[in-house]
Amino acid sequence: MNKTIKSFSKARSRFSVQNKRLLSAADKNIFYQEENFKDFKNLLKVEEKNILEIGFGDGKHLYQQAELNLDVFFLGVEVFESGLTNTYRRIIKNELKNLKLIQGDIAEIINLNKSLEIFTKIYVLFPDPWPKSKHKKRRLLKKQFILGLKNLLKENGKLIIKTDWEDYAEEIKTNLNEIGLEFKFNEGENFFKTKYEEIAIKEKRKIFNFEITLDA
Ligand SMILES: C[S@@+](CC[C@H](N)C(=O)[O-])C[C@H]1O[C@@H](n2cnc3c(N)ncnc32)[C@H](O)[C@@H]1O
Repeated sequence: MNKTIKSFSKARSRFSVQNKRLLSAADKNIFYQEENFKDFKNLLKVEEKNILEIGFGDGKHLYQQAELNLDVFFLGVEVFESGLTNTYRRIIKNELKNLKLIQGDIAEIINLNKSLEIFTKIYVLFPDPWPKSKHKKRRLLKKQFILGLKNLLKENGKLIIKTDWEDYAEEIKTNLNEIGLEFKFNEGENFFKTKYEEIAIKEKRKIFNFEITLDA
């Protein structure tokens, strides 16, 4: 992905003084910043089941998954201030041991990372749709980015993508086909609904679900 084109709006990555303070004093084993990130292997053990959620928003799905699967290790990447700080507070309050967070741009983090085959699953749930024609270049799920995610998956690893934007779903399908990645696809609501899936349903948009499994 072109380094100068961001897939998020700058406003979402601005932090209040209070939250900056909270996160600068955060537990260094739980909370990381893009500036200090070097490699996923420094944060996770490759032999474990590791799950990455990209753009976790308010953190509802990420936190619930971590709480329900204590033998699995979860890592969330976000730029959004209140999602990061609220999820960090919940981890500390409930002493959850299997969830870590990175504050930063996933495209930059993948560029910095050197290791392959780390994750058993990667979620990209309702990425920003950038619906206007002039903004489509800001969409995260470009071919090069998907290839980067593929390299992070272990054998039989899964990439789960969901969107409520039909035109984005079409672009994702084209990109997956051009890369040569097979996928299962369906339309329909999920049992667990993230904040953005709930908004989509309220606004009567369809939900498009992709599941890509890396061949053994
Ligand atoms: C539309 S929201 C969806 C949030 C959540 N997944 C949900 O379904 O409710 C997209 C999220 O992705 C985050 N995001 C966008 N680009 C990102 C990037 N390059 N790195 C990390 N997070 C990103 C945004 O800050 C935002 O919180």
